Amino acid sequence: MVEPLSMTTQKERKKALKKAGYNTFLLKSKDVYIDLLTDSGTSAMSDRQWAGMMLGDESYAGSVNFYHLEKAIQKHYSFKHIVPTHQGRGAEHLISQIQIKKGQIVPGNMYFTTTRLHQELAGGKFVDVIIDEAHDPNSTHPFKGNIDLKKVEKLIKDHGAEQIAYISLAGTVNMAGGQPVSMENIKAVRTLCDKHGILLYLDATRLVENAWFIQNREEGYQKKSVKKILFEFCSYADGAWMSGKKDHLVNIGGWVAVNDDKVFDKLRNLVVVYEGLHTYGGMAGRDMEAMAIGIKESVQDAHINSRIGQVRYLGQLLEDWGIPIVKPIGGHAVFLDAKAFYPNMPQNQFPAQVLAAEIYLDSGVRGMERGIVSAGRDPKTGEHRYPKLELVRLTIPRRVYTEAHMEVIAESIKAVWDTREQAKGLEMVYEPDYLRFFQARFKPIKK
Ligand SMILES: Cc1ncc(COP(=O)(O)O)c(C=O)c1O
Repeated sequence: MVEPLSMTTQKERKKALKKAGYNTFLLKSKDVYIDLLTDSGTSAMSDRQWAGMMLGDESYAGSVNFYHLEKAIQKHYSFKHIVPTHQGRGAEHLISQIQIKKGQIVPGNMYFTTTRLHQELAGGKFVDVIIDEAHDPNSTHPFKGNIDLKKVEKLIKDHGAEQIAYISLAGTVNMAGGQPVSMENIKAVRTLCDKHGILLYLDATRLVENAWFIQNREEGYQKKSVKKILFEFCSYADGAWMSGKKDHLVNIGGWVAVNDDKVFDKLRNLVVVYEGLHTYGGMAGRDMEAMAIGIKESVQDAHINSRIGQVRYLGQLLEDWGIPIVKPIGGHAVFLDAKAFYPNMPQNQFPAQVLAAEIYLDSGVRGMERGIVSAGRDPKTGEHRYPKLELVRLTIPRRVYTEAHMEVIAESIKAVWDTREQAKGLEMVYEPDYLRFFQARFKPIKK
């Protein structure tokens, strides 16, 4: 499948950006040249996956495609019971409602927007227990996604293990710049959980990419396949939720999986309220088939080498040109350090939002803000949360663009870097209640 790209003039982009309230989420895709908004649901499917789409069994109950999907997840992710959902946040909703009691704490390796919101809506309080290096864009720690066990131990000491709903472990860590978790770390977290009777759940959204980093950086794993590493990693957890729109190489779908029979019963019951029957959970049969095939393709070493290789190609170009990015280069995206682009711009003038807008204006390349806007407000105080990382994410869709596109992107970022002193801050003029980064509107501050 070949998709034409639309090229626009700077005048057209200026108009489109103003109409979108300086929020790249509100741009029309027809006005975008190279789309790096997200790697979610934007992968190109393979010939096998498209062939699988023709074999959709759209029976309401017991679709044959569900059993293919269930088998693929059990085989590669190790979990016993699978419940499909329409996408990742559907799965986050179910597990949060079932496993969090009002007032409980959910320690996790850095927040993710939808995950934390569902944990909070279920009455939980997310506490960040990632290692400090994750908050420093210049730290080159090889596993910046790791959990700091001392931070978890302190929570247990201060509040008691029964106050902890579960540990929420994501690999790779999106908001930290696509940074991985080591096998050594998950093993140690498991041991701590066993000691105190605490559950450990994974955000499995980009675990295949995490497995690649373990293979490339952790002693003893160089000769193991990504497939084997993925299985071992999951074997230390009690369950996982998944946005299939990333690693699984499909446009829609997700799941939640657990080993415990009783938790499964609850999930299987709740899914019919919010998503659909437990053998489709909001997905069409054809989508489940494409996902089952995508899972098998995603764990091939050759695929994952080329996928992460492309991200590194872009990151390396930028690094060589002296442009400030989060180091080391992550799995799914290159993250620009907006604070280093605009050191004199206060964070409440939204530097990363400004940077994403400037890049779009320059070339029609669309990235996404991952800073103060994404962090939202503290539910108790109503104040902005001020994250240390103020980033623009340039997310690479899987199997879509070529190295030549990466060069065009890098040249545009360089042009924006060279003219960084002319950029102006933004003011927020519309703010929705939930996940404001998707729909907030801005206007330039007049100097
Ligand atoms: C790490 C992570 N977890 C969960 C989700 C939520 O998944 P979805 O967008 O499919 O609802 C995402 C999506 O971006 C994600 O990146």
